[in-house]
Amino acid sequence: MKIRDDFLPLSRPALGEEEAAAVVASLRSGWITSGPRVAELEEAFRGLTGAPHAVAVASATAGLHIVLTALGIGPGDEVVTPSMTFASTVNQVALRGATPVFADCDYGTLQVLPSDLASRISPGTKAVIPVHFAGAPADLDPIRAAADRSGIPVIEDAAHAVGTSYKGVPAGGAHRGMPGNIAVFSFHPIKNITTAEGGMVTCHDDALAARLRLLRFHGIERDAWKRYGKGGTPHYDIREPGYKYNLTDIQAAIGVVQMRRVADLNLRRAELAGRYLGCLHGVQGIDLPQEVPYPHAHSWHLFIVKVTGMDRDLFIGELAARNVGVGLHFPPCHLLSYVMGRYGTGYGNLPETERAGGRIVSLPLFPGMADEDVEYVCEAVREILAERG
Ligand SMILES: Cc1ncc(COP(=O)(O)O)c(C=O)c1O
Repeated sequence: MKIRDDFLPLSRPALGEEEAAAVVASLRSGWITSGPRVAELEEAFRGLTGAPHAVAVASATAGLHIVLTALGIGPGDEVVTPSMTFASTVNQVALRGATPVFADCDYGTLQVLPSDLASRISPGTKAVIPVHFAGAPADLDPIRAAADRSGIPVIEDAAHAVGTSYKGVPAGGAHRGMPGNIAVFSFHPIKNITTAEGGMVTCHDDALAARLRLLRFHGIERDAWKRYGKGGTPHYDIREPGYKYNLTDIQAAIGVVQMRRVADLNLRRAELAGRYLGCLHGVQGIDLPQEVPYPHAHSWHLFIVKVTGMDRDLFIGELAARNVGVGLHFPPCHLLSYVMGRYGTGYGNLPETERAGGRIVSLPLFPGMADEDVEYVCEAVREILAERG
């Protein structure tokens, strides 16, 4: 094949003139940190998810941190989460002094296995954190049922899931009269919508939302833009120390525009994923992502194949030689050095996760890609596997 001149990255944010104009307007407004644009972005998330509360934060990681803090999770407590996730989740559990307990995933879909997750809930478990992996939803009904039997909350890691839904309910939404889950979304530049860095926590509990707002900003009860605005008073009190995890208006201004575009952006992602699935159908030496077996909307955050016909790292090198960037989502968390050292995890604990972990490769997927880019990647994959596989 003829090697392309330019590098095709794994991802590139879909930012245009509208986002640029929104940033400039925010800069010119005289109020650049958390303010009216953050309120607008929170409103957009209440609209998307149907959750009554949305709390914008500096990142999904920050969101996970204040959620675990607000739930009082600490030393002696356990939190069950898949190992096939980004380390951010596990780090936050560890940083609270709690113990992460890992559940296995399905090899085909990479979603956490509800029965395995349920079997790892113990009297010490204080929360479960399923991940809507790659933009398809985790199987929330059995997960929710298992959590309810133990009276513990479900925290949806919805970092990949702006626009994802499960059985007609958006990530973060309430399921058929059940108490709604807490959900944490990410706006990192690789994600389906971005604010450069940023995140959103949605929840259905008034007291929890109030606590999250305090923990997000020093423990101060009223937002600065209300204290310093016309008619505001500069006095404040702090009853509990908080963090500095607020999102700025400059960032939120980008997010508000991205939220208006998200349905179109996700549609384009789905088209590209469909093209990959068609082009790579029947190719020997890779396993394609399998569809989850329940009604859903997939936001196609990532397109992950598993390399079975040759060494995965050689495959990555061959793609790089053809000017194609890739990602690894994710090295299994139970095999990270500090996790093995601190919690005694290791090989043999989670067979499906380990089988997938050594084979996964994320191929380029972002709305600005052309159909020909997908065809180029597929041709490269076929050639590499034919030559080296
Ligand atoms: C599954 C998952 N959870 C959490 C995060 C953390 O998101 P952020 O970068 O916004 O802190 C990520 C980011 O990649 C992720 O993939």
